[in-house]
Amino acid sequence: MIFGKKSIAGLDIGSKHIKIVQLKAVKGKYHLERLGITTLEPELIVDGSILDSSRVVEAIKGLIATANITIKDTALSLSGHSSVIIKRVSLPQMSEDELSESIKFEAEQYIPFDIEDVNLDFQILGLADKENMMDVLIVAAKKDKINEYVTVAKEAGLNPVIVDVDAFALENMYELNYEVNPEENIAIANIGASMININILKGGISVFTRDSAVGGNLHTEALQKEFTLSYANAEKLKQEGTMEGISREDVQAVLVSASEDIIAEISRSFDYFRDTTNYENINEIILCGGGALTAGFVPLLSEKAGINVKMAESLKNIHIPDSFDREYLKKMEPIVSVAVGLALRRIGDK
Ligand SMILES: Nc1ncnc2c1ncn2[C@@H]1O[C@H](COP(=O)(O)OP(=O)(O)OP(=O)(O)O)[C@@H](O)[C@H]1O
Ligand SMILES: [Mg+2]
Repeated sequence: MIFGKKSIAGLDIGSKHIKIVQLKAVKGKYHLERLGITTLEPELIVDGSILDSSRVVEAIKGLIATANITIKDTALSLSGHSSVIIKRVSLPQMSEDELSESIKFEAEQYIPFDIEDVNLDFQILGLADKENMMDVLIVAAKKDKINEYVTVAKEAGLNPVIVDVDAFALENMYELNYEVNPEENIAIANIGASMININILKGGISVFTRDSAVGGNLHTEALQKEFTLSYANAEKLKQEGTMEGISREDVQAVLVSASEDIIAEISRSFDYFRDTTNYENINEIILCGGGALTAGFVPLLSEKAGINVKMAESLKNIHIPDSFDREYLKKMEPIVSVAVGLALRRIGDK
């Protein structure tokens, strides 16, 4: 069904990196057409709010030009609990049309925002354990946040046609690249600069999502504080592991301590998942986001959580033409996970 429909660009506006991906379906396989990443100065986007929209617009325009993006139709996404609420609820059985009519009323008691301030969407998941009830996924996104992100994309010359949620885009990326084992629970964890998105799939179907307001900024801030550095120097130190007058051991100790805080937050999500599912096991963690690239993070997470961890291969089932720098793509693969998931969307998708 997807093949044959027009491509759209996937645009992931993060607080540290803006990523854009354009795919083309050729004979039943996706080909990478365009991919670009640009870095934002700090403080332009804080807690999911775009504070300096004109500089974000400039950054997107620059990205469109350098990545040579050729299509305007775009999917973007929101995340963070101050922007999007995702709830699984049990409602009396009714048809999709009936629920469309009554969703506002039904959602009101579950959504912590004024119902007039959100756009609502839902998906009927199936019959519930209780008689005459059904399980429904409700998604409520703040209208002002949608507007903020849609506006910068428009001002950059794009035509936003889909507003998705990071956690669902990650799920799309996963479906494209991984074989589903019906017996397994897989946690996709996206560690950005300021946000962690968790989506736990049971037999390939999302059963739990949670966003937390921490990420790789914790590493940077810890380095800034410990060694009295500017933000830019701390970011450099984080990636290079050492600089004049600062030993690798000291840097590593600071990074480990910040990683432990991030991992504690991930573990909290896993605990909630276990609480709501009769203490089910998580078989594997698929890690996305730049925050996961910080030295030592992967083994520490695996050790603390007691779960096998793999870096996301978001381009695994996508054909990469020779014109791309494979080494660069391999490094950036986890960072573009959301953008890849968004680029898989098609106009008319719900
Ligand atoms: N080798 C690396 N290359 C790029 N970023 C890295 C690397 N190592 C660590 N990072 C960190 O990854 C984070 C950025 O990751 P990412 O691009 O996924 O975040 P984002 O989507 O912009 O942020 P958010 O969604 O949280 O607003 C930053 O904190 C950055 O310092
Ligand atoms: Mg992000």
